[in-house]
Amino acid sequence: MLEQVNVLMNKALEELGQAPLDLKWLQDFDVRVLGKKGDLTLLLRETGKLPDAERPSFGAKVNAAKLAVLEKLNELRAKAEAKALAGRLESERIDVTLPGTALPLGSIHPINRIQQEICDVFERLGFNVESGPELEDEFHNFDALNVPTDHPARDGMDSYYLGGKVLRTHTSSVQVRVMKKRKPPIRMIAPGRVYRRDAIDATHGAQFHQVEGLAVDTFGQVRFSDLKGTLESFTRLMFGRRLGVRLRPSHFGFTEPSVEVDVQCFQCQGKGCGLCKKSGFIEIGGAGMVHPNVFAAVGYEPEAYSGFAFGMGVERIAMLRWGINDIRLFTENDPRFLSQF
Ligand code: PHE
Repeated sequence: MLEQVNVLMNKALEELGQAPLDLKWLQDFDVRVLGKKGDLTLLLRETGKLPDAERPSFGAKVNAAKLAVLEKLNELRAKAEAKALAGRLESERIDVTLPGTALPLGSIHPINRIQQEICDVFERLGFNVESGPELEDEFHNFDALNVPTDHPARDGMDSYYLGGKVLRTHTSSVQVRVMKKRKPPIRMIAPGRVYRRDAIDATHGAQFHQVEGLAVDTFGQVRFSDLKGTLESFTRLMFGRRLGVRLRPSHFGFTEPSVEVDVQCFQCQGKGCGLCKKSGFIEIGGAGMVHPNVFAAVGYEPEAYSGFAFGMGVERIAMLRWGINDIRLFTENDPRFLSQF
């Protein structure tokens, strides 16, 4: 029987000597040779047939044989695992030098972009950015701005009223809020949405954007020429060249005198083209010197201060900048349009 142990062990070791480096095969071998019903294990059952004195040494011999086989088996398993891993690393290798797949990127909305550019320019000129609510009360949108109670702009035909308030019809309401909150000197701009009951067409939307500007200081410190100079600096910084600014007399309740602001057409430089309808100029907004009644409404002594204010249309400037001919494109969210900016 002792002989039998050696025979089985050598047979097993021999078999392992030619074993493939395959984990499945090695596992099967483990069960077949060392498992519960394996040849060597079955030999142990024979122990009872031996005389008492020989049993311990026989048992030890069988276990030593099993251990020898197991050691060899484990050695092969380690090699088989390394081989399997190397195979996976090879087959699953990622070539990081291959060109990637670009994900489609969004872009900044043209209105936000122009608005941001306008703010950047005025911040360079020393203005700080303010904001106010879109749903306003009539005091901030009209009363404090010296807009008479019977002014047509207040009509429900022209403005949207909502629960006793009004969707602001211009960003001038922010001037009032800032003046109420702070004493001069003030140099602020306020970008934002405004709402008007306009029939919607290629150049009119019921909702659009303005950038408001306000500069106030002690009387005589802020003059009409400062307004014009500021607008000229703005157009130079915004459009990158020296374009003429033309001011035409106009009327707003909150400014006196009041003007419409035209900028020399940046496409034809004032010569006249399709963009400016041959006029050489393009209107970008309104402006003027702050009316004393506005100062009084915010609690400033009217004679003690002077200031200028302006408001410009963001869509207008964006349309001119990029030659966009329909204001509705800004709100239609067509990626073919938006991805160009
Ligand atoms: N609020 C005016 C508008 O919406 C523009 C403006 C602003 C005019 C400030 C004068 C001063 O048309």
